[in-house]
Amino acid sequence: MKSTPSTFGKTPHQPSLWTRADALKVHADDPTTTQPLVSANFPVLSDEVFIWDTMPLRDIDGNITSVDGWSVIFTLTADRHPNDPQYLDQNGNYDVIRDWNDRHGRAKMYYWFSRTGKDWKLGGRVMAEGVSPTVREWAGTPILLNEQGEVDLYYTAVTPGATIVKVRGRVVTTEHGVSLVGFEKVKPLFEADGKMYQTEAQNAFWGFRDPWPFRDPKDGKLYMLFEGNVAGERGSHKVGIAEIGDVPPGYEDVGNSRFQTACVGIAVARDEDGDDWEMLPPLLTAVGVNDQTERPHFVFQDGKYYLFTISHTFTYADGVTGPDGVYGFVADSLFGPYVPLNGSGLVLGNPSSQPFQTYSHCVMPNGLVTSFIDSVPTDDTGTQIRIGGTEAPTVGIKIKGQQTFVVAEYDYGYIPPMLDVTLK
Ligand code: FRU
Repeated sequence: MKSTPSTFGKTPHQPSLWTRADALKVHADDPTTTQPLVSANFPVLSDEVFIWDTMPLRDIDGNITSVDGWSVIFTLTADRHPNDPQYLDQNGNYDVIRDWNDRHGRAKMYYWFSRTGKDWKLGGRVMAEGVSPTVREWAGTPILLNEQGEVDLYYTAVTPGATIVKVRGRVVTTEHGVSLVGFEKVKPLFEADGKMYQTEAQNAFWGFRDPWPFRDPKDGKLYMLFEGNVAGERGSHKVGIAEIGDVPPGYEDVGNSRFQTACVGIAVARDEDGDDWEMLPPLLTAVGVNDQTERPHFVFQDGKYYLFTISHTFTYADGVTGPDGVYGFVADSLFGPYVPLNGSGLVLGNPSSQPFQTYSHCVMPNGLVTSFIDSVPTDDTGTQIRIGGTEAPTVGIKIKGQQTFVVAEYDYGYIPPMLDVTLK
């Protein structure tokens, strides 16, 4: 985490703004941007563990990659505690909702493999206990580096602090399955700087996580997206005319929206190995609109940059709202300007009758969107729910210019490879 002078050599770009006016165009339940209802009869991947954020193995260009015919996914994972006295309610029954809600505090990186791009088999933990420097192993991206099977796993080491880190290991295949070896030395890359990206000292609810490295198809350099909040003390941000956008009369009041300060961050690598990074100003900010733009990622299509990020209803600012789901923006060049897809940004949201059915969507370059099941109502009133902690049905979308359309639904956790690498 040394600090060297900027080698980037470009005039810093202006972040694009997701404005309150854009967000006023967000509408839940438009069938072209709504995830089909998930049935409460879903199968679970495992009775032993919950899984949520899913990170398919891919190459640096974003292609989902299998190795020797095996697909591999990484998941944030936590043990289920059906027999732990700590998770019994007053009637002695397993309180699965509390167990599920506590999962972030004990998140660990696991991997799974499959011959079919679904029906995943549990491989185990990626790093042995004690390897990762903090308690929580939060989301990131596994990158297959070469035909030797080397993998760089970028992820977020959280509590204490939040540091973007990487660990290198190797994927090994046999006829019967996949194992991950190595993954023993975690290298810290960078933390929020307080000048562009908000720190914990500036805001106890800050977000700084979810690295997604990629090679820019146009300039060929190595970059990384991540989730951040705009730097500054909590409450000090201004929601001015630029952040408000072109709103109708009566929509000028921004309430307490200065507390919502999400941004999509970007860093550039100073070296080809991705060991030395320089943070650049955010690509996109949502000040006055939303407090979280999580797991940002790209699809490069038709010479354009499609930037996707997940967000929640509860993180929207006063006076604007939208469903939990994935939002998107498009630009002709990496540094923008970005415009919201479908006018609003909404690409795939939960239906209002099942507002928490899925989350943590990842749009893959083949138009398939994977996510996990959070909770699905089991009665008409929505008071009884079934907790998921497993893969949701995959959804197909079509991306056309500045618009997207839901066009297909596939099996649970269907993540087919886009290319196969034969290991040497
Ligand atoms: C998204 C997310 C990520 C984070 C992880 C923590 O579901 O909030 O941003 O890395 O989950 O569990």
